[in-house]
Amino acid sequence: VLAIWHQLTKYEIPELKKPSVIMRDRGRVEEIIRNMHGAGPGALQVISDFDMTLTRFAFNGKRCPTSHNILDNSSLISEDCKAKLANFPKSHYYPIEIDSSLSVEDKVPHMVEWWTQAHDLLVQQRIKKDQLAKAVRESDAMLRDGYEVFFGSLKDHSIPLLIFSAGLGDILEEVIEHNGVFHPNVRVFSNYMEFDKNGLLCSFKGQLIHTFNKREGALLNPDQFEQLQDRPNILLLGDSMGDLTMADGVQNVQNILRIGYLNDKVEERRDAYVGSYDIVLEKDETLDIPNAILRYIT
Ligand code: TMP
Ligand code: MG
Repeated sequence: VLAIWHQLTKYEIPELKKPSVIMRDRGRVEEIIRNMHGAGPGALQVISDFDMTLTRFAFNGKRCPTSHNILDNSSLISEDCKAKLANFPKSHYYPIEIDSSLSVEDKVPHMVEWWTQAHDLLVQQRIKKDQLAKAVRESDAMLRDGYEVFFGSLKDHSIPLLIFSAGLGDILEEVIEHNGVFHPNVRVFSNYMEFDKNGLLCSFKGQLIHTFNKREGALLNPDQFEQLQDRPNILLLGDSMGDLTMADGVQNVQNILRIGYLNDKVEERRDAYVGSYDIVLEKDETLDIPNAILRYIT
């Protein structure tokens, strides 16, 4: 196994030698990638989180916005509302979201509270649908380096990219569109806004998706996954422990490779991430590793 591993590292996927890469079990990773290579692009689907997975966590030492933050920082929100929205995560909810000493069950009620409050505040702001694109254009949101290759190669090989996000669907679609990579193979499951007849945000559609109920969403929407059931190999990308179960709606999975971005609180969370994700990318702002694996599989 070691010999084959060295071969894969040396010749086929040298990017796996990047210092940001940590693997619990190299041999297993290599076996999964080889299986996926053998089955080819027709058997593959990519299931990814959006915020802080497809987008950068930081740029030049400054944090990049989540899809919620794009609105929070925009001119579409009153100063009073901005203060409240900025205060929640810093003071209370974000530390709970990423606390490795709390169980998911402990976190869920806080996440529901955070999302509900944030969405209620946004609804009070009389946000206009036709102003969302401008807010995205003027924001600091950035897809990770290598995004053109990532979205482009998935498109070229007709590999479905399913984005499962607890962020704001309308906003993240604009981010993808704005970067020119909203190809036909991309599908998004997220929190979508409902607009009234005047084009003003009046509520959010459907069941609330937060960081830790993506699994339920995946299981509750088997029809959405129907087309994907004939693709038994999954490349899963995430940045939260809640992202690990995003692919649970897919039956007959043959091979799954989970890649986790460890962006923040690296020391505290490393063990948990390495124990759960097959490949952990520590403070890595690029899509180099997913791209290198895709290049080898396709
Ligand atoms: P994701 O599922 O695409 O990663 O999106 C979820 C992220 O959104 C999660 O890390 C927390 C973040 N978030 C905010 O930044 N502000 C908010 O108001 C809310 C509700 C979530
Ligand atoms: Mg995320």
